[in-house]
Amino acid sequence: MNIFNLPSKAFFLAPLAGYTDLPFRSVVKKFGCDMTFSEMTNVNAIAYNNEKTKRMMQKSALEKPYFVQIAANNTENAKKAVEIINEIDWIDGIDINLGCPVNKARRSGFGGVLLKDENRDKLRDIVKTIVDTSKKPVSAKIRLGYDKSVVEDRAKLLEDLGIVFLTIHGRTVKQMYRGKADYDEIKKGAQAVKIPVIANGDITDYEKAKFVLEYTGAAGVSIGRGAVGKPWIFLEMKQEGNITPEQKKEVILEHFNQMINFYGDYGVILFRKHAHAYSKGLKKASEFRSKINEEKDVEVVKNLIEEYF
Ligand SMILES: Cc1cc2nc3c(=O)[nH]c(=O)nc-3n(C[C@H](O)[C@H](O)[C@H](O)COP(=O)(O)O)c2cc1C
Repeated sequence: MNIFNLPSKAFFLAPLAGYTDLPFRSVVKKFGCDMTFSEMTNVNAIAYNNEKTKRMMQKSALEKPYFVQIAANNTENAKKAVEIINEIDWIDGIDINLGCPVNKARRSGFGGVLLKDENRDKLRDIVKTIVDTSKKPVSAKIRLGYDKSVVEDRAKLLEDLGIVFLTIHGRTVKQMYRGKADYDEIKKGAQAVKIPVIANGDITDYEKAKFVLEYTGAAGVSIGRGAVGKPWIFLEMKQEGNITPEQKKEVILEHFNQMINFYGDYGVILFRKHAHAYSKGLKKASEFRSKINEEKDVEVVKNLIEEYF
Protein backbone atom coordinates (compact mmCIF):
# COMPACT_ATOMS: atom_id res chain seq x y z
CA MET A 1 0.00 0.00 0.00
CA ASN A 2 1.31 3.43 -0.86
CA ILE A 3 0.99 4.76 2.68
CA PHE A 4 3.39 4.41 5.64
CA ASN A 5 5.43 1.84 3.67
CA LEU A 6 2.78 -0.79 4.26
CA PRO A 7 3.30 -4.01 2.29
CA SER A 8 1.56 -4.40 -1.08
CA LYS A 9 -0.96 -6.73 0.58
CA ALA A 10 -1.52 -5.46 4.09
CA PHE A 11 -3.11 -7.21 7.07
CA PHE A 12 -5.00 -4.99 9.49
CA LEU A 13 -6.59 -5.64 12.85
CA ALA A 14 -10.20 -4.38 12.62
CA PRO A 15 -11.41 -2.26 15.54
CA LEU A 16 -13.67 -4.22 17.89
CA ALA A 17 -15.05 -2.15 20.75
CA GLY A 18 -14.54 -4.02 24.01
CA TYR A 19 -11.83 -6.29 22.56
CA THR A 20 -9.12 -4.51 20.58
CA ASP A 21 -7.92 -2.29 23.39
CA LEU A 22 -4.28 -1.39 24.01
CA PRO A 23 -3.39 -4.66 25.82
CA PHE A 24 -4.85 -6.80 23.03
CA ARG A 25 -3.27 -4.74 20.26
CA SER A 26 0.13 -4.89 21.96
CA VAL A 27 -0.04 -8.68 21.76
CA VAL A 28 -1.36 -8.80 18.19
CA LYS A 29 1.45 -6.56 16.97
CA LYS A 30 4.03 -9.22 17.85
CA PHE A 31 2.64 -11.51 15.18
CA GLY A 32 2.94 -9.43 12.05
CA CYS A 33 -0.23 -7.35 12.03
CA ASP A 34 0.60 -4.38 9.78
CA MET A 35 -1.75 -1.75 11.13
CA THR A 36 -3.96 -1.16 14.15
CA PHE A 37 -6.82 1.15 15.11
CA SER A 38 -8.17 2.25 18.45
CA GLU A 39 -11.62 1.10 19.45
CA MET A 40 -14.31 3.50 18.25
CA THR A 41 -14.17 6.79 20.16
CA ASN A 42 -16.85 9.44 20.06
CA VAL A 43 -15.92 12.99 18.95
CA ASN A 44 -18.24 14.46 21.59
CA ALA A 45 -16.31 12.62 24.33
CA ILE A 46 -12.96 13.70 22.85
CA ALA A 47 -14.12 17.31 22.55
CA TYR A 48 -15.17 17.28 26.24
CA ASN A 49 -11.87 15.76 27.33
CA ASN A 50 -13.43 12.59 28.66
CA GLU A 51 -10.73 10.71 30.64
CA LYS A 52 -11.82 7.22 29.61
CA THR A 53 -11.76 8.24 25.95
CA LYS A 54 -8.29 9.76 26.34
CA ARG A 55 -7.06 6.42 27.65
CA MET A 56 -8.74 4.64 24.74
CA MET A 57 -6.66 6.73 22.34
CA GLN A 58 -3.33 5.58 23.79
CA LYS A 59 -1.19 3.16 21.84
CA SER A 60 1.35 0.49 22.70
CA ALA A 61 5.03 0.54 21.71
CA LEU A 62 4.91 -1.58 18.54
CA GLU A 63 1.87 0.08 16.98
CA LYS A 64 2.92 2.01 13.92
CA PRO A 65 1.06 3.08 11.93
CA TYR A 66 -1.71 3.58 14.47
CA PHE A 67 -4.97 5.39 13.69
CA VAL A 68 -7.56 6.52 16.19
CA GLN A 69 -11.06 5.67 15.07
CA ILE A 70 -13.65 8.38 15.61
CA ALA A 71 -17.41 8.46 15.21
CA ALA A 72 -19.07 11.83 14.65
CA ASN A 73 -22.66 13.04 14.47
CA ASN A 74 -21.92 16.76 14.14
CA THR A 75 -19.29 18.94 12.50
CA GLU A 76 -18.67 21.19 15.51
CA ASN A 77 -17.32 18.52 17.84
CA ALA A 78 -15.76 16.65 14.94
CA LYS A 79 -13.62 19.76 14.35
CA LYS A 80 -12.79 20.14 18.05
CA ALA A 81 -11.88 16.46 18.37
CA VAL A 82 -9.62 16.54 15.33
CA GLU A 83 -7.88 19.67 16.64
CA ILE A 84 -7.12 17.76 19.85
CA ILE A 85 -5.88 14.72 17.89
CA ASN A 86 -3.69 17.00 15.74
CA GLU A 87 -1.66 17.77 18.88
CA ILE A 88 -1.12 14.14 19.92
CA ASP A 89 2.08 13.12 18.22
CA TRP A 90 1.84 9.33 18.64
CA ILE A 91 -1.39 9.18 16.60
CA ASP A 92 -0.54 8.66 12.93
CA GLY A 93 -3.98 9.23 11.48
CA ILE A 94 -7.73 9.20 11.92
CA ASP A 95 -10.19 6.54 10.79
CA ILE A 96 -13.84 7.60 10.51
CA ASN A 97 -16.42 5.06 11.62
CA LEU A 98 -19.22 4.92 9.05
CA GLY A 99 -20.52 1.47 9.82
CA CYS A 100 -21.45 1.05 13.47
CA PRO A 101 -24.91 -0.59 13.48
CA VAL A 102 -25.83 -0.53 17.18
CA ASN A 103 -29.10 1.15 18.18
CA LYS A 104 -27.47 3.82 20.29
CA ALA A 105 -25.34 4.93 17.32
CA ARG A 106 -28.32 4.86 14.94
CA ARG A 107 -30.41 6.97 17.32
CA SER A 108 -27.62 9.49 17.90
CA GLY A 109 -26.86 9.75 14.20
CA PHE A 110 -23.31 8.44 13.96
CA GLY A 111 -21.74 5.35 12.40
CA GLY A 112 -23.64 3.39 9.76
CA VAL A 113 -26.75 5.56 9.78
CA LEU A 114 -24.73 8.19 7.91
CA LEU A 115 -24.79 5.85 4.89
CA LYS A 116 -28.54 6.42 4.41
CA ASP A 117 -29.38 8.36 1.25
CA GLU A 118 -31.11 11.09 3.26
CA ASN A 119 -27.89 11.59 5.25
CA ARG A 120 -25.55 11.84 2.26
CA ASP A 121 -25.07 15.60 2.69
CA LYS A 122 -24.48 15.23 6.40
CA LEU A 123 -21.94 12.47 5.72
CA ARG A 124 -20.17 14.76 3.26
CA ASP A 125 -20.11 17.71 5.70
CA ILE A 126 -18.77 15.63 8.59
CA VAL A 127 -16.07 13.91 6.53
CA LYS A 128 -15.07 17.19 4.85
CA THR A 129 -14.73 18.88 8.25
CA ILE A 130 -12.54 16.06 9.54
CA VAL A 131 -10.32 15.92 6.45
CA ASP A 132 -9.99 19.71 6.24
CA THR A 133 -9.15 20.04 9.95
CA SER A 134 -6.81 17.08 10.24
CA LYS A 135 -3.06 17.51 9.89
CA LYS A 136 -2.81 13.72 9.69
CA PRO A 137 -4.04 11.28 7.04
CA VAL A 138 -7.71 10.31 7.30
CA SER A 139 -9.22 6.95 6.34
CA ALA A 140 -12.77 5.64 6.64
CA LYS A 141 -14.47 2.35 7.39
CA ILE A 142 -17.87 1.76 5.84
CA ARG A 143 -20.43 -0.94 5.40
CA LEU A 144 -21.99 -1.50 1.95
CA GLY A 145 -24.86 0.82 2.74
CA TYR A 146 -27.69 1.20 5.24
CA ASP A 147 -30.31 -1.23 3.91
CA LYS A 148 -29.00 -1.63 0.34
CA SER A 149 -25.55 -1.38 -1.21
CA VAL A 150 -24.47 2.13 -2.18
CA VAL A 151 -20.85 1.15 -1.96
CA GLU A 152 -19.63 2.61 -5.25
CA ASP A 153 -21.22 6.00 -4.69
CA ARG A 154 -20.00 6.35 -1.10
CA ALA A 155 -16.51 5.04 -1.94
CA LYS A 156 -16.21 7.68 -4.67
CA LEU A 157 -17.59 10.41 -2.43
CA LEU A 158 -15.08 9.58 0.31
CA GLU A 159 -12.23 9.43 -2.19
CA ASP A 160 -13.21 12.85 -3.55
CA LEU A 161 -13.22 14.22 0.00
CA GLY A 162 -9.60 13.17 0.48
CA ILE A 163 -9.73 9.86 2.33
CA VAL A 164 -6.39 8.02 1.92
CA PHE A 165 -7.75 4.47 2.16
CA LEU A 166 -11.10 2.84 2.71
CA THR A 167 -12.05 -0.29 4.63
CA ILE A 168 -15.26 -1.94 3.43
CA HIS A 169 -17.16 -4.41 5.60
CA GLY A 170 -19.22 -6.44 3.14
CA ARG A 171 -22.58 -6.16 4.90
CA THR A 172 -25.26 -3.50 5.16
CA VAL A 173 -25.97 -1.79 8.47
CA LYS A 174 -29.37 -3.45 8.69
CA GLN A 175 -27.78 -6.86 8.34
CA MET A 176 -25.78 -6.30 11.54
CA TYR A 177 -23.71 -9.53 11.53
CA ARG A 178 -26.25 -11.75 9.80
CA GLY A 179 -25.60 -13.45 6.46
CA LYS A 180 -22.22 -13.50 4.79
CA ALA A 181 -19.89 -10.69 3.80
CA ASP A 182 -20.54 -9.89 0.13
CA TYR A 183 -17.20 -9.87 -1.68
CA ASP A 184 -18.82 -8.97 -5.03
CA GLU A 185 -19.91 -5.65 -3.54
CA ILE A 186 -16.50 -5.07 -1.96
CA LYS A 187 -14.99 -5.68 -5.40
CA LYS A 188 -17.34 -3.09 -6.92
CA GLY A 189 -16.25 -0.61 -4.25
CA ALA A 190 -12.57 -1.36 -4.90
CA GLN A 191 -13.03 -0.90 -8.66
CA ALA A 192 -14.83 2.40 -8.23
CA VAL A 193 -11.85 4.20 -6.66
CA LYS A 194 -8.10 4.65 -7.02
CA ILE A 195 -7.33 4.76 -3.28
CA PRO A 196 -6.48 1.45 -1.57
CA VAL A 197 -9.49 -0.54 -0.40
CA ILE A 198 -9.23 -2.96 2.51
CA ALA A 199 -11.67 -5.86 2.45
CA ASN A 200 -13.36 -6.84 5.69
CA GLY A 201 -15.79 -9.46 6.91
CA ASP A 202 -15.60 -13.16 7.79
CA ILE A 203 -11.89 -13.55 7.03
CA THR A 204 -10.61 -16.09 9.51
CA ASP A 205 -7.81 -18.02 7.81
CA TYR A 206 -5.06 -17.81 5.21
CA GLU A 207 -7.06 -19.45 2.39
CA LYS A 208 -9.96 -17.04 2.85
CA ALA A 209 -7.63 -14.03 3.00
CA LYS A 210 -5.88 -15.16 -0.19
CA PHE A 211 -9.21 -15.68 -1.93
CA VAL A 212 -10.62 -12.30 -0.86
CA LEU A 213 -7.47 -10.42 -1.88
CA GLU A 214 -7.50 -12.01 -5.32
CA TYR A 215 -11.25 -11.87 -5.86
CA THR A 216 -11.83 -8.28 -4.79
CA GLY A 217 -8.48 -6.83 -5.89
CA ALA A 218 -8.25 -5.21 -2.46
CA ALA A 219 -4.96 -3.79 -1.20
CA GLY A 220 -5.36 -5.57 2.12
CA VAL A 221 -7.65 -7.35 4.48
CA SER A 222 -8.90 -6.41 7.90
CA ILE A 223 -9.49 -9.10 10.50
CA GLY A 224 -11.77 -8.63 13.47
CA ARG A 225 -13.50 -11.54 15.17
CA GLY A 226 -10.96 -13.99 13.75
CA ALA A 227 -8.29 -12.45 15.97
CA VAL A 228 -10.26 -12.76 19.21
CA GLY A 229 -8.86 -15.73 21.14
CA LYS A 230 -6.24 -15.98 18.40
CA PRO A 231 -4.03 -12.89 18.37
CA TRP A 232 -1.35 -14.98 16.63
CA ILE A 233 -3.64 -15.31 13.57
CA PHE A 234 -1.49 -12.85 11.63
CA LEU A 235 1.42 -15.32 11.67
CA GLU A 236 -0.77 -17.82 9.85
CA MET A 237 -2.27 -15.15 7.58
CA LYS A 238 1.18 -14.18 6.38
CA GLN A 239 2.41 -17.77 6.33
CA GLU A 240 5.21 -16.81 8.66
CA GLY A 241 5.12 -19.92 10.82
CA ASN A 242 3.09 -21.63 13.47
CA ILE A 243 2.75 -21.13 17.17
CA THR A 244 3.48 -23.93 19.65
CA PRO A 245 1.23 -24.69 22.67
CA GLU A 246 4.00 -23.34 24.95
CA GLN A 247 4.08 -20.07 23.00
CA LYS A 248 0.28 -19.83 23.16
CA LYS A 249 0.41 -20.07 26.93
CA GLU A 250 3.06 -17.34 27.03
CA VAL A 251 0.92 -15.09 24.81
CA ILE A 252 -2.18 -15.60 26.94
CA LEU A 253 -0.24 -14.82 30.11
CA GLU A 254 1.29 -11.77 28.54
CA HIS A 255 -2.13 -10.57 27.42
CA PHE A 256 -3.42 -11.03 30.96
CA ASN A 257 -0.44 -9.14 32.43
CA GLN A 258 -0.94 -6.29 29.97
CA MET A 259 -4.61 -6.09 31.00
CA ILE A 260 -3.61 -5.76 34.65
CA ASN A 261 -0.97 -3.13 33.82
CA PHE A 262 -3.49 -1.08 31.88
CA TYR A 263 -6.69 -1.48 33.89
CA GLY A 264 -5.42 -2.47 37.35
CA ASP A 265 -7.37 -5.20 39.18
CA TYR A 266 -10.45 -4.52 37.03
CA GLY A 267 -8.44 -6.13 34.22
CA VAL A 268 -9.29 -9.49 35.82
CA ILE A 269 -12.97 -8.95 35.03
CA LEU A 270 -12.28 -7.55 31.58
CA PHE A 271 -10.04 -10.50 30.74
CA ARG A 272 -12.88 -13.02 31.27
CA LYS A 273 -14.26 -12.73 27.74
CA HIS A 274 -10.74 -13.27 26.37
CA ALA A 275 -10.24 -16.30 28.63
CA HIS A 276 -13.48 -17.69 27.18
CA ALA A 277 -12.23 -17.08 23.66
CA TYR A 278 -8.81 -18.63 24.34
CA SER A 279 -10.39 -21.76 25.79
CA LYS A 280 -12.84 -22.25 22.92
CA GLY A 281 -12.80 -25.85 21.74
CA LEU A 282 -10.37 -27.01 24.45
CA LYS A 283 -11.04 -29.81 26.91
CA LYS A 284 -12.76 -28.90 30.18
CA ALA A 285 -13.28 -25.35 28.94
CA SER A 286 -16.57 -24.91 30.81
CA GLU A 287 -14.92 -25.88 34.09
CA PHE A 288 -12.10 -23.39 33.47
CA ARG A 289 -14.55 -20.65 32.50
CA SER A 290 -16.66 -21.14 35.64
CA LYS A 291 -13.56 -20.77 37.80
CA ILE A 292 -12.39 -17.68 35.91
CA ASN A 293 -15.85 -16.11 36.16
CA GLU A 294 -15.87 -16.36 39.93
CA GLU A 295 -12.34 -15.26 40.67
CA LYS A 296 -11.28 -11.64 41.21
CA ASP A 297 -7.76 -12.09 42.53
CA VAL A 298 -4.98 -11.35 40.03
CA GLU A 299 -2.55 -14.02 41.28
CA VAL A 300 -5.20 -16.72 41.51
CA VAL A 301 -6.34 -16.04 37.94
CA LYS A 302 -2.75 -16.07 36.75
CA ASN A 303 -2.30 -19.49 38.32
CA LEU A 304 -5.53 -20.73 36.75
CA ILE A 305 -4.24 -19.66 33.34
CA GLU A 306 -0.84 -21.29 33.99
CA GLU A 307 -2.49 -24.55 35.00
CA TYR A 308 -5.09 -24.68 32.25
CA PHE A 309 -3.25 -23.78 29.06
C1 LIG B 1 -17.82 -6.81 19.35
C2 LIG B 1 -17.59 -5.99 18.11
C3 LIG B 1 -17.17 -4.68 18.24
C4 LIG B 1 -16.94 -3.90 17.09
N1 LIG B 1 -16.49 -2.61 17.24
C5 LIG B 1 -16.19 -1.88 16.13
C6 LIG B 1 -15.64 -0.58 16.25
O1 LIG B 1 -15.40 -0.05 17.35
N2 LIG B 1 -15.35 0.09 15.09
C7 LIG B 1 -15.57 -0.45 13.86
O2 LIG B 1 -15.31 0.18 12.84
N3 LIG B 1 -16.10 -1.68 13.73
C8 LIG B 1 -16.38 -2.41 14.83
N4 LIG B 1 -16.86 -3.68 14.67
C9 LIG B 1 -16.93 -4.26 13.31
C10 LIG B 1 -15.63 -4.96 12.96
O3 LIG B 1 -14.55 -4.04 12.87
C11 LIG B 1 -15.73 -5.69 11.60
O4 LIG B 1 -16.08 -4.77 10.61
C12 LIG B 1 -16.77 -6.82 11.62
O5 LIG B 1 -16.69 -7.57 12.81
C13 LIG B 1 -16.56 -7.76 10.41
O6 LIG B 1 -15.25 -8.26 10.38
P1 LIG B 1 -14.86 -9.72 10.99
O7 LIG B 1 -15.79 -10.72 10.33
O8 LIG B 1 -13.43 -9.91 10.62
O9 LIG B 1 -15.10 -9.66 12.46
C14 LIG B 1 -17.13 -4.46 15.80
C15 LIG B 1 -17.57 -5.78 15.68
C16 LIG B 1 -17.79 -6.54 16.81
C17 LIG B 1 -18.22 -7.98 16.64
